[in-house]
Amino acid sequence: MKKFPFEAIVTASLLIVLSQSAFAEKKAKPKTMSGASATMIANTCAGCHGTYGASNGPSIPILGGMSAVYLVEMMEAFKADDIPSTIMGRLAKGYTTEEFERMGEYFAKQKFVAATGQKSDIKKAKKGAKIHDKYCEKCHSEQGTLAYDDSGFLKGQWKSYLSAQLKDFHSKDRQASKKMAKKMKKMLKKEGSAGLEALLEFYSK
Ligand code: HEC
Ligand code: HEC
Repeated sequence: MKKFPFEAIVTASLLIVLSQSAFAEKKAKPKTMSGASATMIANTCAGCHGTYGASNGPSIPILGGMSAVYLVEMMEAFKADDIPSTIMGRLAKGYTTEEFERMGEYFAKQKFVAATGQKSDIKKAKKGAKIHDKYCEKCHSEQGTLAYDDSGFLKGQWKSYLSAQLKDFHSKDRQASKKMAKKMKKMLKKEGSAGLEALLEFYSK
């Protein structure tokens, strides 16, 4: 025998309510990867950032050897949408601070493998080296290769990634520290956008 439509409606709504509350409960308590090793978590990054963080580029930055402090800072900023991103903002929202710390420890232990095969204009790169020494070396020491500075990699990083970051700093979509912004302004006043181009040629040499 067929059910009365009324009964059918009640049953159906009850089912919906039940399934929704089950869903709500699941949503309220996202599972963290408790017990997952740093390596297990970091493996989920390898598809894009390469094995051990040695990214094949060109728009995906190299992470191997990066300081844990800087990596965690970036992940928190991506999660909070403080930094514009294509992928990382969405991805970072799925992890906790503790997991960021484990990722940080993992990548800090890996070797920095500089990008290879990048084209670079030698003349511009020479100029870029001078500009770097004058305006950037103070905080990005050893040409921006020292993890200890907690400020990301410059020399050996993928050009296309760095270029995007410089554009974002310029448009203020990514906020540079006051001191860095001041140096950048000084540099741009003297060298113009050709200065930025020269820096990129230097970092990718
Ligand atoms: C689907 C590809 C993809 C995956 C997976 C991915 N990333 Fe990224 N990552 C990117 C891209 C692209 C950028 C540049 C920012 C953007 O556009 O999202 C980036 C940027 C970053 C940066 C900034 C680096 C710097 O020099 O400031 C960090 C740190 C980072 N990713 C860490 C991770 C970690 C840790 C994981 C694994 C949990 C991960 N990423 C997984 C694509 C990816
Ligand atoms: C007063 C210190 C300081 C100076 C000077 C400075 N920076 Fe930075 N820079 C930082 C810090 C700290 C970060 C890390 C991100 C942040 O805190 O905003 C950074 C981040 C960056 C990044 C992003 C790296 C990444 O992996 O995403 C680039 C690119 C960069 N700086 C380029 C430059 C250039 C080019 C100059 C010189 C014209 C310069 N900086 C001068 C402190 C400085």
